[in-house]
Amino acid sequence: MTATLNANELFSKLESIKVGGTTCRYPIEKCEQLTPLINEINQIKKEKNALILAHSYVSPEIIYGVSDFVGDSYYLSKQARDSNSDIIVFAAVKFMAETAKILSPDKTVLIPSQNNGCTLADSITGAQVAALRQQHPNHTFVCYINTTADVKARCEVCVTSSNVYDIVEKIPNDKIFFLPDRFMGQNIINEMARRGVEKEILYSDGTCYVHEEYDPEMIQFIKSEYPGIDVISHPECKPEVLAESDFVGSTSELINYVSKSAHKDFFVLTECGLTGRIQAEFPEKRLVGTCTMCRYMKSNTLENILSSLKAPGPHNQITLERDVMDKARGCIDNMFRYTA
Ligand code: 13P
Ligand code: SF4
Repeated sequence: MTATLNANELFSKLESIKVGGTTCRYPIEKCEQLTPLINEINQIKKEKNALILAHSYVSPEIIYGVSDFVGDSYYLSKQARDSNSDIIVFAAVKFMAETAKILSPDKTVLIPSQNNGCTLADSITGAQVAALRQQHPNHTFVCYINTTADVKARCEVCVTSSNVYDIVEKIPNDKIFFLPDRFMGQNIINEMARRGVEKEILYSDGTCYVHEEYDPEMIQFIKSEYPGIDVISHPECKPEVLAESDFVGSTSELINYVSKSAHKDFFVLTECGLTGRIQAEFPEKRLVGTCTMCRYMKSNTLENILSSLKAPGPHNQITLERDVMDKARGCIDNMFRYTA
């Protein structure tokens, strides 16, 4: 988005958002405050031939004000790979920006916030993966995209929430070590059993602190209060949560599902940025339930996007060793090969 935006246009995009408390509301006065910053970012973006990629969990003013592409980690990694820009600003978390750098090593990749971790990516190191590989030499090591570059460099195939089950099924080895998400590991085991695929799946112990909050009791309560409600959840949730869900998918698959569903009422079990997107893009749908925020995704702001574009500090720059990038690219390319 590069044309000048006025406050009324921004207001018309954001007025339906009613996630959580007052900080998540966008009255016209707030839109009037936000638009000068949005227009300054869009102007600098044009001058510097920069691209802004935004994950669905970041704040609405970023998604609808300055981003060029918004989506899930698989979609955004493809945009990073295929873009012609000189600079990529990744409004998300560090592992996603690292993936962009691995796929576009000659571009400048910037991460606006310094609070850019992820409890999954931070749960395991490359050295720990190397030790696990020694213990399990016959297993194919499959890593979720929510891992550091160093971890990807030591694994064979990368997966995302939108392709994990199909890729694990296709890998020509019946011994898989999946990392770092314990719940996704358990969900893979259940899905392979459902598909009649026999594989030994081992997994490590990480969790997403946002998705592990959800419990089946919450869903049962919501279902009793709102009979007929459609329950949709992300595969980082516990298996017991998935068992109570009507649909499970990546963040992009969830919004796609809502867009096509004849249902009106949804209980959305993922980070509230997605709830905000559904409210903004499908205001006729009714959403019930949680407001759980990822503190890392929500640390991206218009202010830190502007400062990273104007005068990037060392903390904004993604730099990786060539050897790590080359090995990690092999792991990510294997994902693209399986999904081609
Ligand atoms: P998606 O790839 O589904 O967007 O998931 C990324 C993520 O971090 C979810 O917590
Ligand atoms: Fe990581 Fe969870 Fe935040 Fe996604 S929501 S970036 S998995 S901490």
